[in-house]
Amino acid sequence: MKLTLVAILFCILQFALTVDRSNFKTCDQSSFCRRCRKVTPGDSPFALVPGTLNIYSDSITTDLVNRENNHLFSLKLEALQGNTFRLLIDEKTPLKPRYRVNDALKSNPVPGTIKVSERADNELVITSGTSKAVVTGTPFKIDFYQNEKLSLSINAKGLMRFEHLRKKPQPPAETENNENPDELPKEVLPKSIEDEDPGSWEENFKSHHDTKPNGPEAVALDFTFPQAEVLFGIPEHADSFVLKPTAGTDPYRLYNLDVFEYELDSKMALYGSIPVIYGHGPEETIGVYWQNPSETWVDVFNSNAEKNVMSSIVNFVSGSRQTEPPAAHFMSESGIVDVFLLLGPSPLDAFKQYTDLTGTAPLPQLFTLAYHQSRWNYNDEQDVNSVSNKFDEHDIPMDTIWLDIEYTDGKKYFTWDPHKFQHPLEMIKNLTTLGRHLTIIIDPHIKRESGYFFHQDCTDRGLYTKNRDGHDYEGWCWPGSSSYPDIFNPEARKYFADQYLLENFKTTTKDVMIWNDMNEPSVFNGPEITMLKDNVHFGGWEHRHIHNLYGHMYLMATFDGLSRRDPNQRPFILTRSHFAGSQRYAAMWTGDNKADWGHLEASVKMCLSEAVAGYSFCGADIGGFFGNPDAELLLRWYQTGAFLPFMRAHAHIDTKRREPWLYPEDTKQIIRSAIRERYSYLPLWYTMFYEHERDGYPVMRPLLAHYPKDKNAFAIDNEFLLQDRLLVRSVMQQGVSKVDVYFPTKGDGKGDIWYDVDDYRKITTVGHESIPADLKKIPVYQRGGSIIPKKERIRRAATLMKDDPYTLIVCLDANQSAKGTLYIDDEKSFEYRKGQYLYIEYEFKNGVFKNRFIDNKSKYSPRSWLERIVIVGLEKVPKSAKLKASKSDAADLEVLPQGNAYVIRKPGIGMAEDFSITLKY
Ligand code: NOJ
Repeated sequence: MKLTLVAILFCILQFALTVDRSNFKTCDQSSFCRRCRKVTPGDSPFALVPGTLNIYSDSITTDLVNRENNHLFSLKLEALQGNTFRLLIDEKTPLKPRYRVNDALKSNPVPGTIKVSERADNELVITSGTSKAVVTGTPFKIDFYQNEKLSLSINAKGLMRFEHLRKKPQPPAETENNENPDELPKEVLPKSIEDEDPGSWEENFKSHHDTKPNGPEAVALDFTFPQAEVLFGIPEHADSFVLKPTAGTDPYRLYNLDVFEYELDSKMALYGSIPVIYGHGPEETIGVYWQNPSETWVDVFNSNAEKNVMSSIVNFVSGSRQTEPPAAHFMSESGIVDVFLLLGPSPLDAFKQYTDLTGTAPLPQLFTLAYHQSRWNYNDEQDVNSVSNKFDEHDIPMDTIWLDIEYTDGKKYFTWDPHKFQHPLEMIKNLTTLGRHLTIIIDPHIKRESGYFFHQDCTDRGLYTKNRDGHDYEGWCWPGSSSYPDIFNPEARKYFADQYLLENFKTTTKDVMIWNDMNEPSVFNGPEITMLKDNVHFGGWEHRHIHNLYGHMYLMATFDGLSRRDPNQRPFILTRSHFAGSQRYAAMWTGDNKADWGHLEASVKMCLSEAVAGYSFCGADIGGFFGNPDAELLLRWYQTGAFLPFMRAHAHIDTKRREPWLYPEDTKQIIRSAIRERYSYLPLWYTMFYEHERDGYPVMRPLLAHYPKDKNAFAIDNEFLLQDRLLVRSVMQQGVSKVDVYFPTKGDGKGDIWYDVDDYRKITTVGHESIPADLKKIPVYQRGGSIIPKKERIRRAATLMKDDPYTLIVCLDANQSAKGTLYIDDEKSFEYRKGQYLYIEYEFKNGVFKNRFIDNKSKYSPRSWLERIVIVGLEKVPKSAKLKASKSDAADLEVLPQGNAYVIRKPGIGMAEDFSITLKY
């Protein structure tokens, strides 16, 4: 009873307040952040130890010493294939092993080769490909050069800190009386406990006590980006895409937390942490992936960002640079230095170097790219059926209905509420016969209720996370008193995964997909709403060492479970918590946003930051989780959501129902059009996700990805690209009837040609253009030179559109040519990995349109065919066209003018057929 009250109170508070900052630490309230931030720039105490160098084909190793206390470290600098280096620094002989991450990388990185020369003046030169690392011995520093230009420096500011594990020093009196002081390692002698930061050996936050069994064990290092103008990355923050300097504010924080009603323009931590940062300038983009899952703060230095636009233009024109190049200072509570240097040099190169290490989203089932309908909660089976039917009644496509925590029996996962969901299998079948799916939530907190099988099994088999005394840790979450499986224990992961198998979860089917929420993990009565740092996981690791990986490991279990449930169906999982590499298992969304315009804008900024950090499959709750959107906000949100990779509407339990038909007819119609537009672009989304898996580049991209020299584009984050094919600038402000769209330049003052996707109006503007944007308008532009596949017969669910014909939109560039790709497979299984797919390149050049099969000539024969080719931007007027196809007779085709385009109707070619179409003028 008491617990239920607490949960209700918590729920009310969460709804009534904006973020309660006092629940979360500032850097000043965190001992290790204070300690690391206190290091003053200048000569670093760290230095290479002469005579300890070893040279291997791909790496060097050497000892490093902290000259302040003579403590020794081992350093390894390794070249990897693809213009990447890895730097590892650990204690040479630690008192006990320090945590190393195993599960973030997709596999062991492929080593490169190096050549090493030593320079007399205390420097080592390590060359790999066209890049070169120059390691300075004293003080320790590494500079990376490409084509003789300095690209990146490590420890140039001298902010490195590596707190070696020590025995706890005794108060001075006892130390002085120590009969045998030589028993202690030499370096601990100078420090007495009073000299140290007060939180070094134990720390309190609010009512919580952290016993810190290992004492101080922080690691920190600075990275300078000499060629960069802006820094971006390190999601997840509700902030601008370009990172702001942190002088005078807290650093950006990476610590997976459940933050209620999070603030915008904030460096506070959120649900996910991806410690990869990029420095970008007109000449190159360099990335740094700091592989550390413990709590991390990142200071950003960028005097450029503080200047006004005018002075940076003056500087640029006059060639003068800022005095201090942008830099980042990573500070982590524990672990080792394990850092990957991604040397680009282009933005896309750097993004790919990151996904080469941590992986990409595997191609999802096509329906997961369509529209998802969620709320906390759809109340019962009747509600689910009625919502599904209403979508049909109003002729709005929808693929998935989601069930939040209330479907369970008392928040016990893997059960159903026996009254509201008496016939889950029937309910699921009703949906699947309509071509739809069901997604249900499964959280990691397990209700401590006797008789609940999951709780019983975890208790009996010792699968729960332990507290510092070795007992099962108990915290509060939705079910009241809960425990948390120790997801670092392979047996616990397997147990969790097994529960998804149909022989265990008998009341589901293979078509039920999974939503993993609260996996930071969220603990309502824990410090900062999460677990105690001195809790203990498998292998004896403290929670402090692995915190940011908890959600990730949980996803691994779910992915394993769904993969075993049906080995030939691609799993779909949505997660809130995430770390580097989580993109291999789940899509993510930006958590509990709010029904206001700022949060709508934040959805784009946040997904852009996720995308460059390997997370392409990102979305935000359409309409805002908290609060009630008015008609204008809701429809603008749908319009934006229709162009973000993951498209789901979701809302808090206390909000008003907001299915589209509950709004006025004109609002509903606009929402319907936005969703239908999404469905028309599904072939493009699917192709982009295939190419993401295959090539490692993000699906959603900042303008700088393709216009790296356009300084005006660097900080633009209310506009984005889908690959290099579409430019999206949806309306995200209230009451506006026009928006300023920025059309980027390639750097020479010239830009691409763009075509408005609604009427194919040609745009040759370089720079800003004001575009009229009434409530129906979504300003989206197709790049001249690109070809986009679409389907124009919209059905109730994407699964039903599989065999429907394609339309190709061919937008011509200044040379009257265009290229594009289309990917087709069974949209569901893993057969594509055995070659069962078609990957087609289309090209229009010199008046001839033709296809080419990439990789393999069609092991897959889709039933779909080519219905329409729309050619936009033709300078000469075509009269007709001649079709030559491998499986049909040559034919003359009609070419009809239609507005600003020419349409070749019904070429009627099967998608697996070779063909060419020649325009006749
Ligand atoms: C928090 C999630 O962020 C939200 O989307 C969900 O509705 C609630 N938990 C309840 O499960």
